[in-house]
Amino acid sequence: MAEAVVDQPAKVVSEAHGVDTFHPPQKMFEKHPSKPHISNLEEYQQLYKESITKPHQFWGRKARELLSWSRDFQTVHSGSFEHGDNAWFVEGQLNASYNCVDRHAHADPNRVAIIYEADDPADGRNVTYGELLREVSRTAWVLKQMGVRKGDTVAIYLPMIPEAIIAILACSRIGAIHSVIFAGFSSDSLRDRVTDAGSKVVITTDEGKRGGKLIGTKKIVDDALKQCPDVSHVLVYKRTGSEIPWTEGRDYWWHEEIEKWPAYISPEPVNSEDPLFLLYTSGSTGKPKGVLHSTGGYLLGCAMTGKYVFDIHPGDRYFCGGDVGWITGHSYVVYAPLLLGVTTVVFEGTPAYPNFSRYWDIIEKHQVTQFYVAPTALRLLKRAGDEHVKAQMKHLRVLGSVGEPIAAEIWKWYFEVVGHEEAHVVDTYWQTETGSNVICPLGGVTPTKPGSASLPFFGIEPAIIDPVSGEEIHGNDVEGVLAFKQPWPSMARTVYGAHKRYMDTYLNVYKGYYFTGDGAGRDHEGFYWIRGRVDDVVNVSGHRLSTAEIEAALIEHHSVAEAAVVGVADELTGQAVNAFVAVKAGQDANDALRKELIMQVRRSIGPFAAPKAVYIVPDMPKTRSGKIMRRVLRKILAGEEDQLGDITTLSDPTIVERIIASVHAAK
Ligand code: WT7
Repeated sequence: MAEAVVDQPAKVVSEAHGVDTFHPPQKMFEKHPSKPHISNLEEYQQLYKESITKPHQFWGRKARELLSWSRDFQTVHSGSFEHGDNAWFVEGQLNASYNCVDRHAHADPNRVAIIYEADDPADGRNVTYGELLREVSRTAWVLKQMGVRKGDTVAIYLPMIPEAIIAILACSRIGAIHSVIFAGFSSDSLRDRVTDAGSKVVITTDEGKRGGKLIGTKKIVDDALKQCPDVSHVLVYKRTGSEIPWTEGRDYWWHEEIEKWPAYISPEPVNSEDPLFLLYTSGSTGKPKGVLHSTGGYLLGCAMTGKYVFDIHPGDRYFCGGDVGWITGHSYVVYAPLLLGVTTVVFEGTPAYPNFSRYWDIIEKHQVTQFYVAPTALRLLKRAGDEHVKAQMKHLRVLGSVGEPIAAEIWKWYFEVVGHEEAHVVDTYWQTETGSNVICPLGGVTPTKPGSASLPFFGIEPAIIDPVSGEEIHGNDVEGVLAFKQPWPSMARTVYGAHKRYMDTYLNVYKGYYFTGDGAGRDHEGFYWIRGRVDDVVNVSGHRLSTAEIEAALIEHHSVAEAAVVGVADELTGQAVNAFVAVKAGQDANDALRKELIMQVRRSIGPFAAPKAVYIVPDMPKTRSGKIMRRVLRKILAGEEDQLGDITTLSDPTIVERIIASVHAAK
């Protein structure tokens, strides 16, 4: 349980150690269509207590309240962290697309489900719930006809267009497992993910459009599929109409296929624990993990956090700037808003195109009520200048932040300049593996401190653990690594085809706990402060990258003998990738090679993983057992050469001087 939570004083209070506490602004309540679902912090505390001490009662009630089940459940939860066999709503059956579409289409077919805001501000369209049901049904027919069956995986490599949502829901309608691959991934990464998941059908577009530029998605798919002999069908949505290569008998046009099928197909009920989707994420080793989420628990996590964290009410227009290729897009572009029957904005472009007002113009134009974005975008937009934030955006009630710590000055800018002090800022901490927000304020309820993700969501029982002793540290004003003490419905169930890896990464690190991989502090009032990853994962613009994966890409280059990648603080992207490379004997270290190495990473993973700097060094700092000491490299880049710590364990301590010299020469 949270050790203690603050009482609710009436206004902003400044504390002795310089941290302000903000309360949900009065103006937010004045513009509210009714009132937040929870009336005050005391009610949160009561419900939170119930969720921790009587989880079966709490989650059983919420699951029946927020989701429609075609068969009811008797067992709310079974299994444990120890055995890695957690199951929720065990006997229950339901269908995700029914919950996201049919129930709202039946009630109100003309309600807008999707506002598509295209890359070009003059384009775009609305999709009503009635239309969504027809589109999802037709696409589900097409997939069925292509041989997709319940339990099969379908690879989705699509930009941010309504068809991405339609494809996702079409999979879930027939009980297939969607595996969305972010459309910024390279053909090699796509190939690996299609192969790992065993997908036989891939859905893509002819091209994508982003920030005024064209992206050759179909070409990337073609390249990837050269090494995926098991893929039998590619469904291609025509986005731009450009000439593209075509493989007869394998490639099919979306618009031609859907015309063949009726506009309704009945949803296939699945077991609560049947998989809903796979989503690949980076871990501390080179191979990406296919994080698997099951149906009932995941959907409940989305609906619950949509309702309580984002204060979603009927008639709201919800805009999450995340991409469907990442978990933020899954949970908060698709599932949370659609489960709750409101309108979701699907934005194809970038916050800087055609100018830095784009987000604010979208919010103004569509009278957006909740906005959710990563701090990296806010840093960019703050730097661009306040003159771009002319829009009034007077419908905004909740402003969400996600993916990385938000610095106090960015938080304040978000609150004051974007929100005009009329919206509640919620900094939400969670992960691909947690499925939905786990440490987060409740919109309109929880007092917040800039930079703190605040208090645990229902059912989440955080523990701060001493990484050295492995013991839980009780009480407040403590620092350590963050773990959770009891299972929650939307937690990932396994890593696809690698359950041992799942156990070893999350559940076997501290027995009886789920380990997040993040460092965190709990302050004197029980508020949580996320400090960042304690493993070899770097966070660039809210994207999670594995240093080992980038190193593996660099080593593929014929000139490279060894590579070490570290994350360094970056003003714009939070962290930036910096690579150290030792070249093979006889290879020249020059600018051309540096460029080639950057290209190598772009090709192997994707442009977003490209190192910002490549340092060619004579050798790596290594222990006598051959382990690269990345800590030393990090210190050198931070200019803390005088704080390298103990380097006597290095096999060759003189190497440090030579590395420092190479770094200085390159800078
Ligand atoms: C990692 C998870 C979950 C959505 C996007 C990222 C970091 C996430 C916060 C936050 C500080 C945060 C953590 C976490 N992170 N949210 N509000 N404050 N750090 O998902 O790619 O699975 O990455 O992002 O380090 O472990 P992801």
